[in-house]
Amino acid sequence: MDVTAIKQRFEIIGTSPLLDRALDIAAQVAATDLSVLVTGETGVGKEFIPKIIHTNSVRKHGHYFAVNCGAIPEGTIDSELFGHLKGSFTGAHEDRKGYFEVADGGTLFLDEVAELPLSTQVRLLRALETGEFIRVGSSKVQKTDVRVIAATNVNLSHAIKSGKFREDLYYRLNTVPILVPPLRERPQDIHLLFRKFAADFAEKYKMPVIRLAEDAQNMLEHYRWPGNIRQLKNVAEQLSVLEQTRLVTAQALARYLPADSPLHLPVVYGPEKKAGDDFLSERDILYKILFQLRAEMDELKQQLRNMTDHEPLGGHPQGTMLAHPAEEPVAADEVTEGELLPLETVEESQDLSLNTLEKELIVKVLQKNKGHRKSTAKELGIAERTLYRKIKEYGIE
Ligand SMILES: Nc1ncnc2c1ncn2[C@@H]1O[C@H](COP(=O)(O)OP(=O)(O)O)[C@@H](O)[C@H]1O
Ligand SMILES: [Mg+2]
Repeated sequence: MDVTAIKQRFEIIGTSPLLDRALDIAAQVAATDLSVLVTGETGVGKEFIPKIIHTNSVRKHGHYFAVNCGAIPEGTIDSELFGHLKGSFTGAHEDRKGYFEVADGGTLFLDEVAELPLSTQVRLLRALETGEFIRVGSSKVQKTDVRVIAATNVNLSHAIKSGKFREDLYYRLNTVPILVPPLRERPQDIHLLFRKFAADFAEKYKMPVIRLAEDAQNMLEHYRWPGNIRQLKNVAEQLSVLEQTRLVTAQALARYLPADSPLHLPVVYGPEKKAGDDFLSERDILYKILFQLRAEMDELKQQLRNMTDHEPLGGHPQGTMLAHPAEEPVAADEVTEGELLPLETVEESQDLSLNTLEKELIVKVLQKNKGHRKSTAKELGIAERTLYRKIKEYGIE
């Protein structure tokens, strides 16, 4: 299959040379049995690559499995990948085959490979180098013939430097690197993608297709898209469902683009909005960002608390600097070591005025969503559970 055929077959939109290059390498490497490492930010479309490779390879009639290494608890990952024997750990009631066994003759896609614990990395390296693996609790060496394609959205050389990823495994996986470019590096594709998604959602929701005014198109092309195509798709869906005026202006669009860093606050063009406009104002959007930050902070705090709770007696007292949170699966680029505040400081930072703002915003978004909690939580970017808690806390009707 050439690049055009691939795009057709997988419904991949885009004309960027960077994307074409990634697809072309995938097509070319498919015929070989080489390991491939797909890198790229979240939401760029990494999952297409292993599918393209599998369908274009001699293994196409074999099984294809995608495993998200970040979603499997550390305690069961070895068993998921390599299988286990009955009784090898609590809960192992039956013998079980792992992915390396069931994918024999096929392709295994290891997504978020950087999340694998070091001990699993050792087993993986062995399987890649010799085709040999051992089920958990067994001593029998088994053989398998699996092609592995891995993906990551973190910088593996950083992970190697900090001792979280084995260098030998990195070289073994990275025989052929494929980089899927972020959306902001293919601005010419943004509007194409938007139009495709808008058409899809119009059909799905049986509504007229949403279109972008010129200023909105411009805004779309200059936004940073931290969540890449997944985010663009999501914005297209929200607009398709929520906007009454089907020709969307930049001002309307800005409400759907969260600022991911102070440098990328969405610019709002056009006249000030009219009174009585029942959508969120710019001030509300700022609140919303604040709100999301706070939800993240709450979550972080909870994680810190869990960690200190698990400290053995005589461990760090609460409030000391937690210098090594990195063992926990906190994404490395979210928390930088040394920047963590002592717990008490974090507690104190919850001041009352913030609570008032938060309450106001919840009430407003609840009203907008006619009291529907699921959509309110979604719009606020918090878990439904958290919303329920806050409604109770603030005594909101
Ligand atoms: N070029 C593209 N054309 C159409 N849809 C795309 C494209 N790239 C990504 N998508 C869509 O964007 C979403 C995110 O893609 P995914 O492969 O899950 O991202 P990643 O694995 O890199 O985080 C999916 O719904 C996917 O179908
Ligand atoms: Mg993915």
